[in-house]
Amino acid sequence: MKNIDELAVFCKRKGFVYPTAEIYGGLSGFYDFGPYGVELKNSIKAEWWRTHVLQRADITGMDGSIITNPQVWEASGHISSFTDLLLDCKKCGNRLRADQFIEEKLGIKAEGQPVQGIKQIISEKRLKCPKCGSGFSEPKSFNLMFTTMVGPVGENSSIAYLRPETAQLMFACFKLVSENARLKLPFGIAQTGKAFRNEISPRDFLFRVREFEQMEIEYFIKPGQDCPFLGEVMNHTLNVLSREMQKKKQEPKKIKIKDLIAKEIMLSWHAYWLAFEQKWFTGLGAKKENFRVRQHLSEEKSHYASDTWDLEYNFPFGWKEILGVANRADFDLKQHMKNSGQDLAWFDQETGKKIIPHVIAEPSLGVERAFLVFMLEAYEYNKERDNIVLKLHPKLAPIKAAVFPLVSNKPELVNLAKKVYDDLKNEFSCFYDSAGSIGRRYARQDELGTPFCITIDFDSIKSNDATIRIRDSTKQERIKLSGLKQKIKEMIQ
Ligand code: GAP
Repeated sequence: MKNIDELAVFCKRKGFVYPTAEIYGGLSGFYDFGPYGVELKNSIKAEWWRTHVLQRADITGMDGSIITNPQVWEASGHISSFTDLLLDCKKCGNRLRADQFIEEKLGIKAEGQPVQGIKQIISEKRLKCPKCGSGFSEPKSFNLMFTTMVGPVGENSSIAYLRPETAQLMFACFKLVSENARLKLPFGIAQTGKAFRNEISPRDFLFRVREFEQMEIEYFIKPGQDCPFLGEVMNHTLNVLSREMQKKKQEPKKIKIKDLIAKEIMLSWHAYWLAFEQKWFTGLGAKKENFRVRQHLSEEKSHYASDTWDLEYNFPFGWKEILGVANRADFDLKQHMKNSGQDLAWFDQETGKKIIPHVIAEPSLGVERAFLVFMLEAYEYNKERDNIVLKLHPKLAPIKAAVFPLVSNKPELVNLAKKVYDDLKNEFSCFYDSAGSIGRRYARQDELGTPFCITIDFDSIKSNDATIRIRDSTKQERIKLSGLKQKIKEMIQ
């Protein structure tokens, strides 16, 4: 795929994603998910929850509210520090996010640069408004949180915020959740849900939007505790770009986890989670060579993080973050203890002492970015078939199986096909289609990523069987109707 706009056009045409309320001209940074997009998004979230929560004894889930007591954001530092620098053109009023503009113009990272740093770069490099060529006024700090009012407008209403990350309630509810789930350190609390950021320049389709979903884990450990799961990933290789390597302008290097640890390039927890997350993507069909891990430069780090590594993906618009693994240490729990006056310390039964657990790793992934990765990996124009074949992993495919009667004017075929469809749809998302030639029906399903198409023909009536056609190979196989459900189940794995 050459550019992201092609994917956006495809997504709209096939019913995956639309610009929000397009009949009114849309709204920048907001999207609606259509019939196939919502299924894909739900499958991504379900797979994430299955592998990160249900299949693990050390992680439990919760679902905090989107709007919460504003003191949460006071304590977390988001009210004072969750900001980007804004550039205003003096003449035409064009508004730009300063670090993004500099990165695009000069190819250098400017995230986290203070006002002085941004001013210096703009003046030294004589950067001007890309629209009208005029100069900029003083860079301004802009808080990314959306505000709203709680209660009827008037004296009794109060200001509140739409959450900019799902993370905070996992800290604020830390004590309740860890006690209820009877967890022992190290353990994680996981949450998925909407987050909102009033991004200065939403861009690249779903990549940077103003309303999105996150899948996050706050992983709590005893200070200094090593990762007991490292053995699972020791021989896994990551394509690594450390802070040092970036400073020396070196290319990323493929390094085994055991060497990353031996050479102290990253902490065991970062190595484990980065490998785990990369394996999650490749296990769902993404190619390993499209991923790398990059350490944040000192000035890039969020206000709460002492170190962060990103898992990056090779997008058509360059290598960009899809997931961050931040070391938040005890910043959040301590802040909530200070601001709420409540004791959130954890009682360590081994030592008989209270401790403040550290979140040394916070794997945080955006659903929309994962959606883009899987779509980009799957999207392929097939010259022979002359249509797009969306090679989504069967676990993610919005429709698992489509059922066709060979022709639509023979009631015996239609009845049997509908019976097969009714039976399969109790188990998987299915689609019934009797319109057009079989070739056209296959092509339509190829474009939606449906891995299996089942055709009921005249022999099916005599022999109680059907043809199953595999999306990627187009191979066809005859299968008894009694074994169809089981066969599809096995092929989805
Ligand atoms: N709690 C940590 C946190 O929120 P982050 O790096 O700001 O960290 C985590 O965000 C992930 O959320 C990102 O890696 C990205 O996948 C997703 N994300 C953040 N801002 C986004 C935006 N404006 N649009 C789409 N996804 C976004």
